[in-house]
Amino acid sequence: MSQAASQAIKLRVVVLISGSGSNLQALIDGVDSGDLPIEIAAVISNRPEVMGLTRASKAGIPTLVLDHKNFASREAFDIELMRTIDAYTPGLVVLAGFMRILTPAFTEHYLGRMLNIHPSLLPKFQGLHTHQRAIDAGETHHGVSVHFVTAELDGGPVIVQARVPVLPTDDAGLLAKRVQKQEHVIYPLAVKWFAEGKLKMTNGKTELNGELLAENGYQIEANDI
Ligand code: GAR
Repeated sequence: MSQAASQAIKLRVVVLISGSGSNLQALIDGVDSGDLPIEIAAVISNRPEVMGLTRASKAGIPTLVLDHKNFASREAFDIELMRTIDAYTPGLVVLAGFMRILTPAFTEHYLGRMLNIHPSLLPKFQGLHTHQRAIDAGETHHGVSVHFVTAELDGGPVIVQARVPVLPTDDAGLLAKRVQKQEHVIYPLAVKWFAEGKLKMTNGKTELNGELLAENGYQIEANDI
């Protein structure tokens, strides 16, 4: 296949961020290595001057800031965000550390074509401060989930999870580092599955390679600590 033809079939992806963008970087690295058949059409941040915007610019990806503080309501922000995203005609929207609660109209609009990464083994520890909460709960294992986004916060069908051990010496920072290493493995993997047409949301469940997955999704055990 010619280079032009292979570029023409690439999935267009818009990535939403709020901060450091290390998961965005993992996607950029996947594209650069030729492993990830996507085109990152734009990176949109709701916070100005974050590291993720610098990462995108360095990779030559168009960036936009849509500061939620400039909007009177959550609904008004989400409507403008939808308009901004849709101008790039993405086949997939990727939330990569996008720290906003989304309105039902927004999640409905992208149902089945929007992914999120959450630093816990969902359905455990939805919401914030997941690493400290896992330690406080005495969990022996913790991890990260990639899931389809639905109206329920951190509640959509899980696609893939990576588990890591919780060590007696852990604090939230150490545990977060161990989890993030796995984030950077499983997010590109899930996006790749979607881009290859292997992954979809069917009747509120995750379908991978034509089979519906169990509640916890595809399981990856991280064997390095
Ligand atoms: C990641 O650890 C991601 O799992 C988390 O934010 C971090 C963003 O890091 N997401 C959530 O907590 C969503 N509820 P990054 O900006 O370096 O990718």
